[in-house]
Amino acid sequence: MNSPGSGWQRVGPADDLDEEDVMPFEFNGQEYAIYHTCDGFFASDGMCTHEAEALADGIVIDNVIECPLHQGRFDVRSGKALSAPVCIDLQTFPVKIYEGDIYIKLARISHQLS
Ligand code: FES
Repeated sequence: MNSPGSGWQRVGPADDLDEEDVMPFEFNGQEYAIYHTCDGFFASDGMCTHEAEALADGIVIDNVIECPLHQGRFDVRSGKALSAPVCIDLQTFPVKIYEGDIYIKLARISHQLS
């Protein structure tokens, strides 16, 4: 069966996203940002938590996305807000590569302790 498993949404060919780059991905009216860093592929909500600027227009430096509007920074691995003016973390999503394509799991990650 040609599937990475249930709950995974295909984004596109991994080769289309160079290292140290970011691309937008839209699904069901929601914007996401897909990153390729020195540590692999990552995904987050597509809009900055400061003033809803598209992060896919920002720049990737190591594992950090810098927002194009006010240069707020987030760690794309965890979504953690790293520098002013951003203070609210980004929601992140699991990513995997399957048969050369990027897949994102869009279920929200829960940080609750069990
Ligand atoms: S909109 Fe992203 S830092 Fe202000």
